[in-house]
Amino acid sequence: MGYKDVFESWKSDPEGFWLGAAERIDWVEKPSKALFDERAPLYEWFSDGQVNTCWNAVDRHVEAGHGDRIAIIHDSPITHSKHEITYAELRDRVASLAGALRAKGVEKGDRVVIYMPMIPEALEAMLACARLGAVHSVVFGGFAANELAVRIDDAQPKAIIAASCGLEPGRVVHYKPLLDGAIELSSHKPDFTVILQREQEVAELIEGRDFDWHGFQYGVASADCVPVAGNDPLYILYTSGTTGAPKGVIRPNGGHLVALEWTMDAIYDMRPGDVFWAASDVGWVVGHSYICYAPLIHGCTTIVFEGKPIGTPDAGTFWRVIEEHKVKVLFTAPTALRAIKREDPTGSFVGKYDISSLETLFLAGERADPDTIEWAQKVLGVPVIDHWWQTETGYAIAANPRGLDDLPVKIGSPSVAMPGYDVQVLDEGGHPVAPNTLGAIAIKLPLPPGTLPGLWNAEDRFRKSYLQQFPGYYETGDAGMMDEDGYLYIMARTDDVINVAGHRLSTGGMEEVLAAHPDVAECAVIGVTDQLKGQLPMGFLCLNTGSGRDHDEVVKEVVKMVRDKIGPVAAFKHAIVVDRLPKTRSGKILRGTMVKIADGESFKAPATIDDPAILDEITESLGSIGYPKQAT
Ligand code: COA
Ligand code: AMP
Repeated sequence: MGYKDVFESWKSDPEGFWLGAAERIDWVEKPSKALFDERAPLYEWFSDGQVNTCWNAVDRHVEAGHGDRIAIIHDSPITHSKHEITYAELRDRVASLAGALRAKGVEKGDRVVIYMPMIPEALEAMLACARLGAVHSVVFGGFAANELAVRIDDAQPKAIIAASCGLEPGRVVHYKPLLDGAIELSSHKPDFTVILQREQEVAELIEGRDFDWHGFQYGVASADCVPVAGNDPLYILYTSGTTGAPKGVIRPNGGHLVALEWTMDAIYDMRPGDVFWAASDVGWVVGHSYICYAPLIHGCTTIVFEGKPIGTPDAGTFWRVIEEHKVKVLFTAPTALRAIKREDPTGSFVGKYDISSLETLFLAGERADPDTIEWAQKVLGVPVIDHWWQTETGYAIAANPRGLDDLPVKIGSPSVAMPGYDVQVLDEGGHPVAPNTLGAIAIKLPLPPGTLPGLWNAEDRFRKSYLQQFPGYYETGDAGMMDEDGYLYIMARTDDVINVAGHRLSTGGMEEVLAAHPDVAECAVIGVTDQLKGQLPMGFLCLNTGSGRDHDEVVKEVVKMVRDKIGPVAAFKHAIVVDRLPKTRSGKILRGTMVKIADGESFKAPATIDDPAILDEITESLGSIGYPKQAT
């Protein structure tokens, strides 16, 4: 069946469509129906089924006789090491870790925070939690102690699993002091931590609280898979919203299994045993879905890559990994390609490797600019498929499903809505707009299986953030349009979220940090266009009257504050001191207009502006630090 027929079969019978897809999952008890809409507009899927995610991702493949198949390849150009783990080994390792966690009191429903770099043990920790029915919450290693503390307080974990260190090119990231700092900052204290000691740095353990990863498994019985209800949470993943408080997106077990398994065939055209490589990080949703769960659920080999697209050691690394491990599908963020293209514009490194195993390159995480797509198509000679999704959905809302069809690619568009998603573009009043007209992108409820049923401990925030603006719809927070053929174009966020190197960050969160500086009276953070990272944050600071401080010094201090409070991943390096911020008469800061000035786009001062002269001052201040930048 082609895309149109599959989409139609979902539209005409969603219940039948998802129950059919659920057949590909091993259930302890099959669900009696797919959708549970008794609490609409809050929806659940497969709630009365009993299932275990770890069983479906690991054990069932061993039981089916595929124990010798490679489950995980760890390729770390940073440590110059590579190794492989079979499905049978993975099962034993995960069962042992789960047994040790259970022996220390971790049970179904308990939360476990995971703070680990790109090593197979990160996946093993996730799977061990899934095995017990415990709920993991992975925190990205590039966040500072304070961000980790905020997540500890919200998730209230019984345990934290961490590594002694992460490795960035030329720098050891000392995880243990960050972890200790976070536990000190948080009001909630975990019962215990488990530390994987890496040879690059051995951390000091606190007697009675910190346990060694290997030591605490010694002599403990392995754990079997614990059945959980279809809607029981598998994990919580925090993502940026409008304020500094991150949103805890809940991922349910049953729907997630069903949907991810479906995507592996339909979108990525993968078969069991094929090699799938998502060059992302386990700390992000792409890493959860496509480094860990989906490839394993589908019986594929997944690659855990500890390196960067450039500099580890060069711009040919991605192509080397494809050759060595016979990668069939590569999934990465456009930023990674822009970084490679900048170092190797002619693609000369590609010719040094045999990349004939590669069938498709998928991109997501940020807008894929046509230049980058065209370059990748030319140098790699494979289809480059942009697809659009969010932490909230966990898999693609719109894509070009390679396993279903040969739909034309329209460069600049992530193609068409996937079954399950009734995507509409709405005007401010919530009415669908004509094709090719800009509007807010919304999805008619219910969202499909595997998407968020809510936010952790925050039902009100869930309703306010996503359901309130357009009753009957989920508001994506993205603006864009749809053409006559149903192809979507994602243009910008409608909130204060920016996208830096494919990482989703809150400008509101950064403003909270800047505002805490004793000399800052008022501030704003905007996302300015960046040739490499897509966007970069830029701060505007108004100092207290009579502060008298040297501007450069204050800027240095706030840059350090954001790095210390949010983390290096915020990439907050630019701020300027201005006399005043442009505002409407009602006091709303005109961030959108400031973005246009910084990007050198034409703009019209809004009729409600308080004092248009401030825009000239902003233009001048930005000019003094080289904005708008000249395109290269
Ligand atoms: N732990 C600790 N620190 C981390 C980190 C981690 N896991 N990941 C990134 N950082 C740090 C970096 O070391 C850097 O610190 P610095 O300011 O001291 O240099 C900072 O956070 C910003 O990192 P990054 O955004 O990765 O920028 P970069 O300049 O180091 O590298 C790219 C640029 C383009 C190579 C890189 O951004 C990249 O590979 N992007 C792909 C993005 C991606 O995979 N996104 C996932 C969504 S699909
Ligand atoms: P995250 O939750 O971190 O995955 O970020 C989701 C946001 O990234 C989306 O709401 C979009 O703003 C942006 N995004 C993700 N994929 C795409 C894409 N293919 N094209 C444009 N924007 C994208």
